[in-house]
Amino acid sequence: MSDSQATHETESTGIETSTSSTTTAGETDERIDDSWLEYEFEGEPKLSVQNLDVYYGDEHALKDVSMDIPEQSVTALIGPSGCGKSTFLRSLNRMNDRIKSARVEGTVELDGRDIYQDGTNLVELRKRVGMVFQSPNPFPKSIKDNVSYGPRKHGDINTGLLASLLGKDESDKEAELVERSLTQAALWDEVSDRLDDNALGLSGGQQQRLCIARALATDPEVLLMDEPASALDPIATSKIEDLIEELAEEYTVVVVTHNMQQAARISDQTAVFLTGGELVEYDDTEKIFESPESQRVEDYITGKFG
Ligand SMILES: Nc1ncnc2c1ncn2[C@@H]1O[C@H](COP(=O)(O)OP(=O)(O)OP(=O)(O)O)[C@@H](O)[C@H]1O
Ligand SMILES: [Mg+2]
Repeated sequence: MSDSQATHETESTGIETSTSSTTTAGETDERIDDSWLEYEFEGEPKLSVQNLDVYYGDEHALKDVSMDIPEQSVTALIGPSGCGKSTFLRSLNRMNDRIKSARVEGTVELDGRDIYQDGTNLVELRKRVGMVFQSPNPFPKSIKDNVSYGPRKHGDINTGLLASLLGKDESDKEAELVERSLTQAALWDEVSDRLDDNALGLSGGQQQRLCIARALATDPEVLLMDEPASALDPIATSKIEDLIEELAEEYTVVVVTHNMQQAARISDQTAVFLTGGELVEYDDTEKIFESPESQRVEDYITGKFG
């Protein structure tokens, strides 16, 4: 009998298999218990994902994922390579729309409104749900122009966000926006005297904080971060970690990381995806790291596979 037949037969018996053995590759006959995915918190979810499936052509990359994300907190997404973390993150601001072969089913609600419904303004959506990528990707422009790029492009240098700064002429408004965003991204002190220098002259860690400042400049509500510190040295990493914790006082932060200690340190709740594109367990970070329900999650976080 092949392994896949064995798995299938065990599943069809319906027997509880949470004590099942796990191979080093994380293959298992463990069945996901619905209660492992029930994460209760106070208040309305900022993002509510229901029955999300994502396909790339014939490949089923995310399978029936449902989870609610509370506002003003840090949600960590962890799991082995290829399990669908980036795919999930991109589905939260419809970045998957840019991938030709990608098809998304299910709903993602931002403040109770489905972002996949017809007529969603994608520019507006991505302003509200900003994104920071794994490798810093500043534009080959000045530090200042990197930060003001979004608001300028969307015309908000005179309206919206900057309405609170009435009575200033445009360059004053821009200067305030740049200072505010760089301060929030914990970069201001390091660059305030060279705002006109090319951003590509900054260190990797500084470039990443600049990209965070750029995302903050459009006044988002949610910040999606895909392994934002994986290319950085330990000092730059710890700056990004401190920053993420601070940002969560104001923003809803969803962060993908391969670094377990980082997830444990900075997040309030943790979602564990495992191979095959399934969300296996989602709960308070402490609970996930100290007493996970799933044997596979325990094996993954203790480094037995992944
Ligand atoms: N643009 C794409 N086109 C086709 N398939 C893709 C694309 N992006 C991702 N996939 C596939 O979808 C699955 C999930 O990929 P995803 O990048 O979401 O995983 P991940 O958990 O972020 O992995 P990693 O930790 O390596 O970044 C993988 O099998 C991958 O090959
Ligand atoms: Mg990824």
